[in-house]
Amino acid sequence: TKGEYEHFMLKEIFEQPNTIANTIFSHLSDNDDRIYFEGLEELKKQLSKARRIIIVACGTSWHSGLIGEYLIEELARVPVEVEYASEFRYRNPIVREDDIVLAISQSGETADTLAALRYSKEQGATTFAVCNVYGSSMARECDFTAYTYAGVEIGVASTKAFTAQVAVLTMLAIAMGVENNILDDNRAVALITELRHIPELVEKTLQTDKAIEKIAKEFLDVNSFLYLGRGINFPIALEGALKLKEISYIHAEGYPAAEMKHGPIAMIDESLPTLIVGTNEAFYEKIVSNAQEVKARKGTIVAVVNEGDTELAAMADYVLTVPKVDELLQPILVAIPLHLFSYHIAVMKGCNVDQPRNLAKSVTVE
Ligand code: M6R
Repeated sequence: TKGEYEHFMLKEIFEQPNTIANTIFSHLSDNDDRIYFEGLEELKKQLSKARRIIIVACGTSWHSGLIGEYLIEELARVPVEVEYASEFRYRNPIVREDDIVLAISQSGETADTLAALRYSKEQGATTFAVCNVYGSSMARECDFTAYTYAGVEIGVASTKAFTAQVAVLTMLAIAMGVENNILDDNRAVALITELRHIPELVEKTLQTDKAIEKIAKEFLDVNSFLYLGRGINFPIALEGALKLKEISYIHAEGYPAAEMKHGPIAMIDESLPTLIVGTNEAFYEKIVSNAQEVKARKGTIVAVVNEGDTELAAMADYVLTVPKVDELLQPILVAIPLHLFSYHIAVMKGCNVDQPRNLAKSVTVE
C-alpha cells in the first residue's frame, strides 16, 4: 500500500534510506569491510581473466550501467562498454569467451536485456546479472547474480531500484579494484566507510523535499529542460532528464556539460531552463564556466550543489543541495533531488506519476 504517501513513486523515493541500507549491508560484512556476493570468489577469478566487461541494460538501468562504467574503470581499471540492450542484440556484436556480460535490470524480465544476455551466453561469455527480482529470468539464466534489495518497485518510474543498482555497482567496483591490486586498502576502506553512511545522508537529502517542491512549482509551464553533468554525474543528468520526460511529459535532454557548446547551446534562451549538476570537485571550475555560458544567454539555472557551495550557488537561480561526499559516491545522493524535482512537477501538472501514459513497468515485448 501507499501508506501515508500520495503515490507509490513518492513512497519509493522515501524508502531509500532503508532500501540502500539493505542493499549495502546485504553485501558487506559487519566487522571487516569485506564485500560479498553469491559466487563472488568464482566471479573474481573470471574477472581477473576478463578482458572487458560489457554492460547491457535499458532505460534507467542503462544509466546505472554508465555510472558502473565510471566506477569500474576508475577503481579496477577493467575496460567497460555500456550498451543499450536493444542495439546490442540486433547489431551482430562481438562477444568473446573472455568477456563478462553484465545485465542490469530491476525486473530481470526486460525482453531486450534478456535477449542480449542469451546471445552473450551462446557466444561463451560469462554472464552476470544485477537485478531486483528474486528468481527472475535473468537471475535464473545468468552464471552469477548480485541482487539489489530495493523491495518491490511499483511506480513505473524507477527510483529506489536505480540507487540500489548504483550501490551494488559501487561495491562491485571496489571488490574488483582490490582483487586486481589497483585499489589500495586504505582507499577501499575509506570508500566503504563512507558508503556505510550513505543511508543517513540520503535521509538528510530527503529533508529538502519541501524546498524542491517549491522550486518545481516555477517550472510547470516550460516546454523543455536541459540537464548537464560531467564525469560520474553525466549519467545522472541523463537520468534526471528521462524522469522528467516520462512522468511530466516535458521534453528534457541530458548532456555531458562540455558537449553543450557542440550544439545545445544554440537552444539556450529565457525559455529553456538548465539543470546543472555541480557537485564534482574535479571539474568544478569547468562546471562554473558552463553555468556562466548559460547565464550569458539569459538561461535559468537550477544547480545541484554540495552543502557549503558558494560560487555555483550564487550564480544559480535555484539551488538544490546534497551533502558532500567522495565524488564516486555522489550519484546516489544527486539522484534524490532530481527524482523529487520531476515528481513534484508531474504531480502539480496533474499527471499520473505512478502510471504514466504509454508506459509499462516492465517492457517484456519488443
Ligand atoms: O526492469 P528494467 O530495469 O530492465 O527496466 C528497464 C527500463 O524499462 C526502465 O528502467 C524504464 O526506463 C523506467 N520506466 C525508467 O524510470
